[in-house]
Amino acid sequence: TTARITVDRNEVVAPINRRIFGSFVEHLGRCVYDGIYEPGHPTANEDGFRLDVVELVKELGSTTIRYPGGNFVSGFRWEDSVGPRDQRPVRRDLAWHSIETNQVGVDEFSRWLKLTGSELMMAVNLGTRGIEAALDLLEYSNHPSGTALSDQRIANGTVEPHDIRMWCLGNEMDGPWQTGYMTADDYGKLAARTAQAMKTADRNLELVVCGSSGSSMPTFGDWERTVLEHTYQHVDYISCHAYYQERGGDLDSYLASSLDMQYFIETVVATADHVGNKLKSKKKIQLSFDEWNIWYLDEHQASDEVNDEWRVAPRQLEDVYSVADAVVLGNLMITLLKNHDRVTSASLAQLVNVIAPIMTEPGGDAWRQTTFFPFSVTSRLARGEVLRPRIDVGTYETKVYGAAPLVDAVATTDADGSAVFLVNRGREAAQVQIDLSSLSVAEVAEAVTLWDDDVYAKNTLADQNRVDLKQLDGAVLEDGVLTVTLPPVSWSAVALA
Ligand code: AHR
Repeated sequence: TTARITVDRNEVVAPINRRIFGSFVEHLGRCVYDGIYEPGHPTANEDGFRLDVVELVKELGSTTIRYPGGNFVSGFRWEDSVGPRDQRPVRRDLAWHSIETNQVGVDEFSRWLKLTGSELMMAVNLGTRGIEAALDLLEYSNHPSGTALSDQRIANGTVEPHDIRMWCLGNEMDGPWQTGYMTADDYGKLAARTAQAMKTADRNLELVVCGSSGSSMPTFGDWERTVLEHTYQHVDYISCHAYYQERGGDLDSYLASSLDMQYFIETVVATADHVGNKLKSKKKIQLSFDEWNIWYLDEHQASDEVNDEWRVAPRQLEDVYSVADAVVLGNLMITLLKNHDRVTSASLAQLVNVIAPIMTEPGGDAWRQTTFFPFSVTSRLARGEVLRPRIDVGTYETKVYGAAPLVDAVATTDADGSAVFLVNRGREAAQVQIDLSSLSVAEVAEAVTLWDDDVYAKNTLADQNRVDLKQLDGAVLEDGVLTVTLPPVSWSAVALA
């Protein structure tokens, strides 16, 4: 395979908003308990947070973190999660059929975010609750002092307000699995009234209304239109959620998963703009891709890991990712960046143990999954502005998407340097020439790749470093043209100074 890529300094998609490198922590399985929080662990701090996990989250480079769900939020009573720990009620979580001890809540999680240097993105419960609970949580979290709930926060030990800027108006309210799920019309009305009330308290909040739980939902498109017709003037973002997996051994289609993400984004942008234009609004709704990842959902649904028992922090949704999964994930990040003019916030779902880049063993190690690498490198190297390259490359046939380009790429640039992120979806190596002459770059500063002879190689507790980044050998910059050879089924990044 050969490919020619042209990066034009003038083809700017958008300046990089660090919120595109967000993640997600849900009270689900071992994400919080035995994940970020394990009081008895040798690395635990006084709050019970594992500092080895904190170090990996920092290395991953995740910015804004969505919390506390997910499906969990649709039964969440935030008051249960604050105050003296020994007095917090133990509750049933219907979403994951688990026991919630409430030992980690809003205040502890905010303290954890200070350790990782991340921003909190909070979701309110519009499944079993509504406007009043949302306003109360907002007052508790953001009001400085002198009111019942802000003083309660201070009495609980958090003097400074959490000052949460981004708020999700419920979660996946289009999904029949959601506690309290609704029709688009009913949800649109509730979301509009909740948003209006929250913005009366603070007009600078950034509010995310629920879009579709996936592009294959039967209501996809209509849901966004109806919900935005009700909420357009009150909200800033509409959410998108998408999970991908290899099905039936069809690796070729799986490697082209980002084509679905592209279709998803284009559909939501067109729908949002249709509503906005009809309303003659000058405002453009942004997309918050606040759940995206690889998830072997079919296999989990066929298993009995979510069952009739009531357990604390059971092992649920603990996917172990392969090299192929990491290549797809890297390609999804390329797609998010290519659409960064409209997708200005995104959350990799999730962060620890539950469909996660980071795994932990109770009392033991924390390690990086294969998918950790493309995320951390992209978050570290993508700086300044995103540039949309022109890519001349052949295609291959896939059962699901038809013809798919063999190579995909995106570039970023700022005064300190540039970077190119590339994927080779093909089974053969690809010789790629990248014309960077419109950027002022003088040398290759770093060139890494993620690939393996075995595309299904994984990191496990027993073999934590089986898969790691490799040097991308032979990356040469000459007269503004970068030449690289991308290994078969690989994700790569080249930083240029
Ligand atoms: O991330 C796992 C689950 O996926 C979330 O709880 C839900 O919002 C989605 O269906």
